[in-house]
Amino acid sequence: MSTVLKFINICKNFHQAGHVVEVLKDINFSLESSQIVALTGQSGSGKTTLLQLAGLLDDPSSGEIIINNHSQTSSNDKINTDLRKKNIGFIYQFHHLLPEFSVLENVAMPLLIQGIDPKQAFKQSQEILDEVELGNQLNYKPAQLSGGQQQRTAIARAIVTKPKLILADEPTGNLDNELARKVFDILSNLTKKYQIACLIATHNLELAENCDRKIIIRSGRIISS
Ligand SMILES: Nc1ncnc2c1ncn2[C@@H]1O[C@H](COP(=O)(O)OP(=O)(O)OP(=O)(O)O)[C@@H](O)[C@H]1O
Ligand SMILES: [Mg+2]
Repeated sequence: MSTVLKFINICKNFHQAGHVVEVLKDINFSLESSQIVALTGQSGSGKTTLLQLAGLLDDPSSGEIIINNHSQTSSNDKINTDLRKKNIGFIYQFHHLLPEFSVLENVAMPLLIQGIDPKQAFKQSQEILDEVELGNQLNYKPAQLSGGQQQRTAIARAIVTKPKLILADEPTGNLDNELARKVFDILSNLTKKYQIACLIATHNLELAENCDRKIIIRSGRIISS
């Protein structure tokens, strides 16, 4: 096991209407490869803000974030953009698939953007789509899929680059319990198989219980991890 993500004394403030709003307060934790960890807490507690920082999409106000042994600099930095592209996959509550493109093309997109040979990219994408049980829907458009199938496509797209870290913000928030369970099981199995570290913000307590660990955040502070 290796440490994939580490937060050291992370604080995040937002400035709003002349006030400073302290959203994250002295956050410390680390995530190891093959670990699937739930991030829970009430609405407004800071989960999405924390994931944005972990994904190098925003800068902390203070503290240090280390991803795969690289210290984060500024979110605009080219080094960080490379770090993000090479190491991090994202899954959101709404799948954000491109409607004009097929399932296969959607999943292949991150590889094509990386400049990987299209033949190889489509082969790799097909293999991952088989693993999320969508091998028979390769040429469907996202609108022709069910909600669970759309989320499994989004998982395939996040995993196809074999990232070290997956950040998922309410990935099952849109699904009923049974579908949520299935989508979570698939994500969990792939996380283990490819030794990815996965951090999932969720309000689904059953899902959180099935993770390896829970980080509970209240008003921007970790109260249990
Ligand atoms: N850009 C911003 N400017 C000012 N305040 C912000 C900004 N982004 C988030 N916040 C504030 O930070 C707090 C945490 O928001 P965040 O979205 O991280 O919560 P959350 O735990 O993800 O909630 P939910 O479960 O509803 O998704 C909220 O009070 C929110 O208003
Ligand atoms: Mg949120």
